[in-house]
Amino acid sequence: MATDEQLRNKYCVVTGGTSGIGLVTARRLVEMGAHVFIVGRDKNRGEDAQTSIRLASGTDGAEFLRADLSNQDDVRLVAEAISSRCDGLISWSTMSAECSDGDNSVHRDWK
Ligand SMILES: NC(=O)c1ccc[n+]([C@@H]2O[C@H](COP(=O)([O-])OP(=O)(O)OC[C@H]3O[C@@H](n4cnc5c(N)ncnc54)[C@H](OP(=O)(O)O)[C@@H]3O)[C@@H](O)[C@H]2O)c1
Repeated sequence: MATDEQLRNKYCVVTGGTSGIGLVTARRLVEMGAHVFIVGRDKNRGEDAQTSIRLASGTDGAEFLRADLSNQDDVRLVAEAISSRCDGLISWSTMSAECSDGDNSVHRDWK
């Protein structure tokens, strides 16, 4: 189990982070100090998840990125959006969380 100090200022990606076990994972990572990209297909569900995490954690540590991971173009777009903000290796698997060191230069204009 990572400590809060290990996760502080790290970037994490939770695919399927907009509901169920992924949402719980994303919320806990944000509570522990990480910046978390939550990935899912549905914009409303994603925005609701982002809001619920903000209310629970009291921080803006969750950022929704819309992508259908069964679509290769969406996979490339979301990978580019995340890698443009993060140093280090980004790996992907459905319903997983991966962390890397970030440079804190988060841009919030990706749709
Ligand atoms: N819940 C459990 O206790 C449990 C236990 C063991 C294993 N699992 C497994 O863990 C996984 C998640 O379970 P869950 O109950 O948390 O499911 P869930 O509530 O249905 O969550 C699935 C998540 O994946 C996203 N998603 C689905 N297809 C996607 C796609 N093509 N591209 C991007 N995002 C996609 C959904 O968002 P959008 O619909 O907005 O895309 C949602 O955020 C499942 O494979 C389940 O079999 C669950």
